[in-house]
Amino acid sequence: MFQPGRVIERLASRLHAPPEIVERREERAFIPCHPAPPVKSPNLVELVIGARRNLIEGWTERYYRAGIGSFRILRRQIVFVNSPEHIRYVVVTRHGNFERKSPQMRRALEALLGDGLFISDGDTWSRRRPLVADIVHKRRLPEFGRTMEDAALAVAAEWAALPQEAEIELTEEMGRLTAAIISRAVFGKNIARAAAQQVIEGFSAYQRQADSFNLGYFLGADEGWPTLGGPQRRRAIAKVHGVVEAVINAHLAGEGDAGSMVDLLIRRNRRSEGQPLDTTALRNEAATIFMAGHETTATTLTWAWYLLANAPWVAKAVHDEIDAACGPRSPTLADLPQLRWCRAVIQETLRLYPPVPLLPRQALEADRIGDLAVEKSALVMIAPWLLHRSADLWEKPNHFLPERFLSGARIDPYAYIPFAVGPRICPGMNFGLDEATLCLAILAQRFEVQPRAGYRVEPVCRLTLRPKGGLPATIVRRPAPNAG
Ligand code: HEM
Repeated sequence: MFQPGRVIERLASRLHAPPEIVERREERAFIPCHPAPPVKSPNLVELVIGARRNLIEGWTERYYRAGIGSFRILRRQIVFVNSPEHIRYVVVTRHGNFERKSPQMRRALEALLGDGLFISDGDTWSRRRPLVADIVHKRRLPEFGRTMEDAALAVAAEWAALPQEAEIELTEEMGRLTAAIISRAVFGKNIARAAAQQVIEGFSAYQRQADSFNLGYFLGADEGWPTLGGPQRRRAIAKVHGVVEAVINAHLAGEGDAGSMVDLLIRRNRRSEGQPLDTTALRNEAATIFMAGHETTATTLTWAWYLLANAPWVAKAVHDEIDAACGPRSPTLADLPQLRWCRAVIQETLRLYPPVPLLPRQALEADRIGDLAVEKSALVMIAPWLLHRSADLWEKPNHFLPERFLSGARIDPYAYIPFAVGPRICPGMNFGLDEATLCLAILAQRFEVQPRAGYRVEPVCRLTLRPKGGLPATIVRRPAPNAG
């Protein structure tokens, strides 16, 4: 069958070959997969092809060095900020000038999220941020802990029922798990499975259509060009909005789950001073939290399984720790302080594979970062992908070494930024960290995951950083620990 997408992909590969993927195993050491930095900088055609294919592939060695630099794409200045002191300047000192997301990001998501927190700025962002930050705050975690435990235990039961050697696809499995958690947390425990499924399908379909390159912005339109939406995109939006609006209306009519994030949003909104949010604004915030909290945690867990499977000495430390802390009972949120290896594996996973590897901003006004003059409306790029792999900031930056988070050595908060940093830091950071650690502990207590032998794993970034084509794997049951 004629598949235009495939033909374009093949043509693009001829014009600009994808980079080599490096992955190495040594004696008790693992260097997980990453694209080898190209030797020479790409030309414009190669840059555009590369950006559409994979936003992390085109960076030459010098971009991994700590520092700052700039180049142009057509009429637009692109500024790269890759050192802790300059990152601090951008996100804290001059937050007001650099808080705005890039036009690509805003245009790609606005049809779905409207003025939702993730892509808003100025007054809208300032008013909404405390509201959203409060409902996903860490003090609320115990309320959501049971939802995390139940969802992970349900996956464990499904895995236990699989025939030996049955293959699963990990990005899908982890996506199902984190979708179950975030949909029950946001919309309520009584959300129908079909409704949650509709939201997930709508988001996935929308993401497939989203374009990460806005030509208009590079040609000089400061706000970028509006993205054209076809019938598929419209159907995807209608699916998501339909479910979220129905949930909000049910809550407004007093029929929602007391304690869900939508419930908290509505109650907090009623109490807040000034103009309260209308149903559309409530929908935009609920959809934003769902989107921000779903795939990020799912990809973190997927990468953590890949890393553990390739570093059996780390897997052993994780298993020993869970067995010592929990014995035969399942790990719970209350066990997390004892599960230091599990937490360190998640932290190191987020260093090597930050789910949001690029944090693009648009300069409101001309500025100066260090010695570099920044033009008005320039694209200012902070890239956790580059920062976390800089040899100037990290020892053995490409090695999988969770120990670095156990040693007690201070980690510079501006050198490690999987959740961003500054006033726009991810408000769901503690939720995401605890969720990923707990799900890993519950599943690792019972199973090991073995990626398909010979399968070539390759990180690819469009909106988030995922293994290209997924991660096929089999599940191996671990012997039950003694009751002690
Ligand atoms: C491992 C999991 C997660 C990672 C790595 C992550 C990462 C991030 C990053 C990097 C940003 C900032 C993006 C930027 O400035 O361009 C962000 C923003 C955000 N995240 Fe997370 N996140 C995670 C989980 C969650 C969860 C579980 C929730 C909600 C329950 C959440 C809610 C949000 C929201 C609402 C924003 C927008 C904040 C704002 O713009 O003020 N995230 N996240």
